[in-house]
Formats: sequence, structure tokens, C-alpha cells
Amino acid sequence: MEGKKAIESLTVMNEIVLPNDTNVFGNLMGGRLMYWMDIAAAMASTKHCNSASMTASVDNISFKTPIKLGNVVHIEAKVTRAFNTSMEIHLKVWGEDVLNQHQYESNEAYFTFVALDATGKPKSVPALIPETKEEQLLYEGALRRRQVRLILSGKMKPDEAAELKALFMPQEV
Ligand SMILES: CC(C)(COP(=O)(O)OP(=O)(O)OC[C@H]1O[C@@H](n2cnc3c(N)ncnc32)[C@H](O)[C@@H]1OP(=O)(O)O)[C@@H](O)C(=O)NCCC(=O)NCCS
Repeated sequence: MEGKKAIESLTVMNEIVLPNDTNVFGNLMGGRLMYWMDIAAAMASTKHCNSASMTASVDNISFKTPIKLGNVVHIEAKVTRAFNTSMEIHLKVWGEDVLNQHQYESNEAYFTFVALDATGKPKSVPALIPETKEEQLLYEGALRRRQVRLILSGKMKPDEAAELKALFMPQEV
């Protein structure tokens, strides 16, 4: 199976925060944002594997800055690395006060999606080819982030996480 470039999965999604999307403080609700992020991640993973895919896990999401009612939400999603049947997707979110021409960072997160065949079983995905410096860094870190999430979900023993261990253990000479 031929590899695909990271840029081929790039997904850009925009929404405007309406009253029904907000909490009592007039800010975008976290749950609504996560819903939009899940959709953007699904589009990015589907572009990479060209088949149906499903959310397997979502890493920590910290909400740095609230997005206000009437502001525009920008979500950018791109696959960072493909493994056997799973793909890691990096999402960047920022808000925009269009009237005052001001943009601000909101959050970023990593989602993992698994490609599924017609019977709903995980299926192989193409390798990911990183091109830019940023894509290369995200690609390298993806292996360690995968090990953290598989350990936390009980799918990997800490002893098996070689790249993660290498970060914390001094190399033997
Ligand atoms: C995600 C799912 C398809 C994985 O199925 P599974 O039977 O555990 O399959 P496997 O153990 O063979 O894992 C398949 C891949 O998923 C990855 N995976 C499984 N659980 C994971 C987790 N918690 N975090 C990250 N990756 C995970 C595995 O590492 C594997 O990736 P790889 O093939 O690239 O190595 C299955 O758990 C599922 O259907 N979950 C429900 C998903 C869903 O409903 N999502 C919508 C939100 S509710």
C-alpha cells in the first residue's frame, strides 16, 4: 500500500458560535467544541484512509481561552502518523473576533481513529509521509503519544513502550 502525504488529510472547518452553543457565561460549551473537533478529525482520517473510520480515543483537551458568542471557530485537523489500522490526528483550534479582527488560540488535541472495513473490522491504512519540519516533529512524537494512550487504556504493558522508556531512562553505556 502506497503512503500518503500529511497535507492530503488537511481539513479546515469553520463554525460561528450561536446562542444555542453557549453556556451561561456566553462562551462556547466545551462539549459542542469537542463534537465539532470529532467531526473534523473524522474528515481528516477518512481523507487519509479513504474508508470509514471511528474514534478510538481522545487525548487530554485543555481549554486555554473561551470562545465568545458570535465569534468564529477555526478547526484545523491533519493526520500526524498512521500505524497498522489506526491514525493519530492533530487538531488546532482558534477563535476569531471578526468585528475586531482579532484571532486567539483556544486549544489543541490529539484524536486516534481506526479504519474499518465493510464488516466493521479494523483494516490496514496507508503509511503517512511527513514533509514539513512541523509534520516531521509530530510524526516522531506520535509513537510515544501512542504508547502513553495504549498504556493508559490497558492495551500495552509499560515494559513494551521502548521509545517512551528511552525518554526517561538514561542510556546504558
Ligand atoms: C476502536 C475499536 C475499533 C478498536 O477495536 P479493537 O477490537 O480493540 O481492535 P484492536 O485491538 O485490533 O485495535 C485496533 C487498533 O485500534 C487501536 N486502539 C485500540 N484502542 C485504542 C485506544 N484506547 N487508544 C488508541 N488506540 C487504540 C489499536 O492500537 C490498534 O491500532 P493499530 O492497528 O494501528 O496497532 C473498538 O474498540 C471500537 O469499536 N470502539 C468503539 C468506537 C466508537 O464507538 N467510537 C465512537 C465514539 S463512542
